[in-house]
Amino acid sequence: MVPTLPPPPMSGHLAWWQTGVIYQIYPRSFGDTTGNGIGDLQGIIDHLDYLNGEADQSLGVDAIWISPFYPSPMADFGYDVADYCDIEPLFGDLATLDRLIAEAHAREIRVVVDYVPNHSSDQHPWFIESRSTLDNPKRNWYIWSDGRTDGSPPNNCGSPFVGPAWTLDPPTGQFYLHQFLPEQPELNWREPGLAAAMLDVLRFWLDRGVDGFRMDVVGMIIKDAGLGDNPPNPNADPTLHADDIFGRQLHVFNEDQDDVHEVIRMFRSVLDEYSDRVAIGELGYGMSRWVRYYGTDGDGLHLPFNFRLMHTTWEAGAIRRSVEKLEATLPSWAWPSYVLGSHDAPRLASRIGAAQARVAAMLLLTLRGTPTLYQGDELGIENGVILPDQLQDPQGLRLGMDRSRDPSRTPMQWDAGPHAGFSTTESWLPLSADHRIRNVATQAEDPTSMLTLYRCLLEYRRSTQTLTVGQYESVPNSRDDDCFTFRRRHQDSERLIALNLTGKEQRLSMPDDRQASIELSTHLDRLGSMTLHNFTLRPDEGLIIEVE
Ligand code: GLC
Repeated sequence: MVPTLPPPPMSGHLAWWQTGVIYQIYPRSFGDTTGNGIGDLQGIIDHLDYLNGEADQSLGVDAIWISPFYPSPMADFGYDVADYCDIEPLFGDLATLDRLIAEAHAREIRVVVDYVPNHSSDQHPWFIESRSTLDNPKRNWYIWSDGRTDGSPPNNCGSPFVGPAWTLDPPTGQFYLHQFLPEQPELNWREPGLAAAMLDVLRFWLDRGVDGFRMDVVGMIIKDAGLGDNPPNPNADPTLHADDIFGRQLHVFNEDQDDVHEVIRMFRSVLDEYSDRVAIGELGYGMSRWVRYYGTDGDGLHLPFNFRLMHTTWEAGAIRRSVEKLEATLPSWAWPSYVLGSHDAPRLASRIGAAQARVAAMLLLTLRGTPTLYQGDELGIENGVILPDQLQDPQGLRLGMDRSRDPSRTPMQWDAGPHAGFSTTESWLPLSADHRIRNVATQAEDPTSMLTLYRCLLEYRRSTQTLTVGQYESVPNSRDDDCFTFRRRHQDSERLIALNLTGKEQRLSMPDDRQASIELSTHLDRLGSMTLHNFTLRPDEGLIIEVE
């Protein structure tokens, strides 16, 4: 394969994962080319021009992160891996993946793959061996323990998917740990043989040309060596499902242990054997614990995902405080990231409403740091309606409809046809009800659609260094409770971002007499000069303003 990507940055320059925008693909729901109602790798290849190509409709993203495509019994839709170094036949094969990487690189799209280091599938040959006998050489590759004298599990840990995090395996009389499903036994990173094998998995994919990894629940991979009991969470939601043990605990002993950073440093040293690769981590702790995942002087994750804005009340003050706390906490060398949607969370447009979803798009693409955009959010797709007999997600099946993640996993909507251009047949999850209006073909033709807004924002961001590399500065305004304003500055260039977080018109004034002009409105209908000491944001409007 001829490498077509630009060379890695000189020191002092920013890397692609700092200036670029990442787009998350949930492969089951992106494009089905075999007619079985389930997306596949060829379906991703077929839509690469949409992601970054010559076509007018092209979105213009810099990288894709693909959720797991490894062989899997699909108990947790691929997050239960039965072979870390192959492709699930439903999705294709290694040759298809190689083509995907080459075709993506030819379009200057980097490819980030999911790495699931906390647990494998119970069908992984390692686990089959491990559970076979007490003295199997791979016994310690997983976390086994005797129960307590009364026969109960070794500690009180619960699973976010319901019930205890331990299952008794009668043939050997010991319990194994699974913080998720019983079909997802936990790997033992304290065992050198397992650690070496899992580091080789990274090399396997790096050698194939992937540009980095999104590391699944990476803060959970090391647990307290003494398997201590978690204390109760005094603030637990009283309406939790009766068997939601996990939700009622403070996770003192099962995650975010100090020695997790040693493993993360091992990940980094493998990535550093290659040039220009990225380590992204899925984790969410309080700011002071979370920031440690960047490592000391940058020997940890390049980008610990920052999910805070997904959990922040959608109000100007709360959003400002979250952003500014991050800005104040990060060491100067650490690069921020922002995520507003994923396959695990309700759809952004359903959470904050269709009108505010446009403001959110401007926020995500103008803050300092790497944005990750979830497939379909660029169309404003809303939560799918899943009937009880259509439920697929193991979390929803165990904890109830309101905990199901299916509504955000419905198929990508490409056109207004009967199967939304996703498939030629009924899809594995029903299409979201909005597919006839919220689809790529329809919105590409509409000069004020959500897709057009995303394309304009992405293009503007790409061509405006101030937005990719500029500093963040706080800017108070006369309506601070309703509007979030901030500045991005790089050398002599300055942009003011003004976001109306309400459905009401807001008049703003700032003590600033400089020349200013509107570069982009979320309504996509106005441009041109304005004054900063007195201006109006229409309901749900965001503006990018150039200040001279
Ligand atoms: C991560 C994934 C989620 C999965 C879980 C267990 O949170 O994003 O989809 O269920 O890990 O692997």
